[in-house]
Amino acid sequence: MWSDQALHLLGLPLTGQPHLIDDNRVVHVTSGEVERWLATRRAPKWWNTHRALVDARLTEGCKLFAHVSDGVPVHRAWLTMSATRIGSDFGFWVGTNTPIAVLWDDFTEPSARRGGLQKASIASRVRLAQLHGESLWAMATVRPDNSASLRSYEASGFKVVATLHRACRFGRVRGRLTSKGEGLETLHLRLEG
Ligand SMILES: CC(C)(COP(=O)(O)OP(=O)(O)OC[C@H]1O[C@@H](n2cnc3c(N)ncnc32)[C@H](O)[C@@H]1OP(=O)(O)O)[C@@H](O)C(=O)NCCC(=O)NCCS
Repeated sequence: MWSDQALHLLGLPLTGQPHLIDDNRVVHVTSGEVERWLATRRAPKWWNTHRALVDARLTEGCKLFAHVSDGVPVHRAWLTMSATRIGSDFGFWVGTNTPIAVLWDDFTEPSARRGGLQKASIASRVRLAQLHGESLWAMATVRPDNSASLRSYEASGFKVVATLHRACRFGRVRGRLTSKGEGLETLHLRLEG
């Protein structure tokens, strides 16, 4: 018996698309600001725990976005511009021939949830990708049971363009990509091991 897990790939075309309304609550964070949070000891727990990872991502050119409340970041999210593949925690990548902006690792502190911060963060990242990138699509991955995140991306105009499946049996793992058409045909998505 194979056990199957799924991950939706959501996409939004960036060209000819009106800008989402960006209320500037979630902003692109410079590394100087990061240092300031650390100096004032008001960095959130996730920041201190994963400091090396955060630094490595910034060095690679990934862009960090945050909403700050009383000096403490309560929402964070990442953007990679002009990518040609999107990662998953299934051990597979999905490659594309089209340059894409990848929105990933969205997180809102439990105390700040349901306040519209993820949607604000999506708008802010999409806007930066539209203004400064060469990406033709914005993309994100969301598990089918993550209703909060699916809701935010779909409310922002994203649609499920493909689904990545990971099947496992007796330690053997298989990946499979399915789509109703748009993902595979328009974005030329393909599974990479
Ligand atoms: C997913 C997450 C980022 C949402 O952040 P948020 O700032 O609360 O998001 P928003 O307030 O912009 O919107 C969330 C939407 O989902 C809805 N929602 C929240 N919790 C929900 C739940 N358990 N079930 C269904 N819908 C839910 C909200 O009502 C809102 O929809 P609405 O605006 O139509 O009312 C946050 O819950 C989180 O950090 N979760 C853990 C990490 C995670 O799952 N990250 C996303 C990985 S793809």
